[in-house]
Amino acid sequence: MKILGVVGSPRKKGNTSVLMKETLKPLETEGIETEVLFLSDYHIKDCNGCEGCKDTYKCIIDDDMQKLYPAIIESDALILGSPTYFYNITGDMKAFIDRLYCFEIFADNDRSIWISYNEALGGKYATVIAVSEQEKAEDMGFASEAMEKPLEALGYRVISTVKVLHVFGAGEALKNENAMKEAKQAGEKLLKSLQLKEKVKKQLS
Ligand SMILES: Cc1cc2nc3c(=O)[nH]c(=O)nc-3n(C[C@H](O)[C@H](O)[C@H](O)COP(=O)(O)O)c2cc1C
Repeated sequence: MKILGVVGSPRKKGNTSVLMKETLKPLETEGIETEVLFLSDYHIKDCNGCEGCKDTYKCIIDDDMQKLYPAIIESDALILGSPTYFYNITGDMKAFIDRLYCFEIFADNDRSIWISYNEALGGKYATVIAVSEQEKAEDMGFASEAMEKPLEALGYRVISTVKVLHVFGAGEALKNENAMKEAKQAGEKLLKSLQLKEKVKKQLS
């Protein structure tokens, strides 16, 4: 089993990163393999809408995203984390999500009929982490939904969304007990969901 964490903040020691690590801890304690990617380490171009992926479910843009596709396909669950940038996710996270468009599969003559690559293979799980500086939930804007909705469309069931408000300085979330607790609980829920899935798969095989 493998879990992939994707951090959309350019701050490697920032709040998103801290919360990502805390979410992954319960899974790591159980010996589950984890990997954290910082999108700022990769050059990911915007989706250009070429539809080159239509029949192959593979993106034809030759950039660093090609290094990430195998990790995404091989992972059993995805954790997306982003700070709020102007009421939304960061540009890096948006570019990353848009490049997952190749995993959307549309019926030949009716684009209102679509499934995802993951659904075709049985579905996967996800967790979302959204962080913001301001105290009011409305100042987080659409950051969590901007990750949840695409994940659902991509055949991931979002088990938990960790929303942490009122953290500004890099790593300040470490001092926020409730935030750290919420992140750990999200990791535990993801772990239990994966364990239940494994158990039922064995029972049914
Ligand atoms: C360009 C930019 C835009 C931001 N926009 C918002 C915003 O709309 N609402 C908010 O509450 N915080 C906003 N923030 C603050 C960050 O979300 C906050 O500092 C967060 O803790 C950063 O997470 P990180 O440490 O993982 O990078 C913004 C920060 C930057 C740099």
